[in-house]
Amino acid sequence: MTSLNGKTLLASGFHAPERGRVEELRNALIAIDPSGVIASVLHPHDAGYDDALEAARRAGLLETLPAQSYLLPGFVDLHVHAPQYPQLGRALDEPLEVWLHKYTFPLEARYADLAFARRSYGLLVDDLIANGTTTALYFATIHQDATRLLVDICLERGQRALVGKVAMDDPDQCPAYYRDASPDAAVNGTRALIDYVHGHPDNAEGRVRPVITPRFIPSCTDATLEGLGALARECGCHVQTHCSESDWAHGYVLQRHGISDTSSLDRFGLLRAGSVLAHANFITPADIETIRARKAAVAHCALSNAYFAGAVFPLKAALEKGVQVGLGTDISGGPSASMFDAIRGTVMASRMLETGTDPAQKAEARGTAGGVRVDFRDAFHLATAGGGAALGLPVGRFSPGYNFDAILIDAAAPNGTIRLWDELDGGDGILQKIVYSASRANIASVWVGGRLLSQPEVRLG
Ligand code: GUN
Ligand code: FE
Repeated sequence: MTSLNGKTLLASGFHAPERGRVEELRNALIAIDPSGVIASVLHPHDAGYDDALEAARRAGLLETLPAQSYLLPGFVDLHVHAPQYPQLGRALDEPLEVWLHKYTFPLEARYADLAFARRSYGLLVDDLIANGTTTALYFATIHQDATRLLVDICLERGQRALVGKVAMDDPDQCPAYYRDASPDAAVNGTRALIDYVHGHPDNAEGRVRPVITPRFIPSCTDATLEGLGALARECGCHVQTHCSESDWAHGYVLQRHGISDTSSLDRFGLLRAGSVLAHANFITPADIETIRARKAAVAHCALSNAYFAGAVFPLKAALEKGVQVGLGTDISGGPSASMFDAIRGTVMASRMLETGTDPAQKAEARGTAGGVRVDFRDAFHLATAGGGAALGLPVGRFSPGYNFDAILIDAAAPNGTIRLWDELDGGDGILQKIVYSASRANIASVWVGGRLLSQPEVRLG
């Protein structure tokens, strides 16, 4: 059984369609249409449930999930540097502006070698799928061929993905061995990748999409930023970049353009619905309003921020002002490829922001007032439905019209790290345990668009 398309699933689990609201599915009947889209979700108390269950059973189309297994929406990783995967878990000792030149640009330059790219991208996509990431927003490199290969690999493995050829051409900030030769090369290379993705013979359903990807303002000339803004207007594609990540990055843009990173991106036409700004730690209240008004989104990368930002993103303030937010691993700025770790990092960072960190300060003076913490429910929402909404894609929740992108958590996996107690655990306390203690061994299956991608020998049916 490799596909749930056209079938009805009898499942228990959780999703968080809106922030603050976790919905428990208990013996829910999820009907999946032949194209992998959820047709209906019925709960046992709903009219028609018994008839639908019986009809599916009689037609031989019912798939029943085993006890002790929980269905969750697949994760949406809103910020991944695909070429940095070989660096995951190291090179965390330098500030951003040093890290880029000392470690990261030399690594990314290697993707001129297609054999290296094939090995690295294949491993990354397989590992992310096994970790439950069903949609990923990828920065690739400046290279056309390697970036096309990443598109091919996502299509082949079945992951939903948005892939950008990185644009970076400013000789002041980019080394001669790793930069676009000119603004024309940066913009035309982006256009060529867009055409490749749109014209790909295996991409008729649009599972992979192109993204306009100026690395960040410091690495791009104004001509490139202008050209990419015009291209975004013309093609309506997604846009991704870094925004106000660290003191250095934020200060650089202020000095070069005399305005904030957010304002400058907006001036170039790069802030639109479908634009994702990674980090955004140093945004001002005016920036927050601009991001909200443009319907752009923030990829919050809590783990990476601990190493490179020097600050915690004011997540709660952004959410309360109505900004779309999702979570990113920021591989390899963040040292984990797991969105479970991104969720945990999000909760922990918000708690440290709330309480403060300096024991030399009195408790009352140590932290940030105003209820800035988020809990596991909020962070789980952001990692699923929030990321989907940020991208404007119908993913991240179990609702009619949404793609069946899902993971199955085996809470009883012997090699896993979840231990449930029947007499103690229940309700969304089970989700809390999953969120805080699950590991890869607990992810029994992964589906994208109803198609089983990972571990086909699941204990289904
Ligand atoms: N800013 C520009 N490039 C990068 C990158 O690769 N990672 C992070 N975290 N920030 C960046
Ligand atoms: Fe990044």
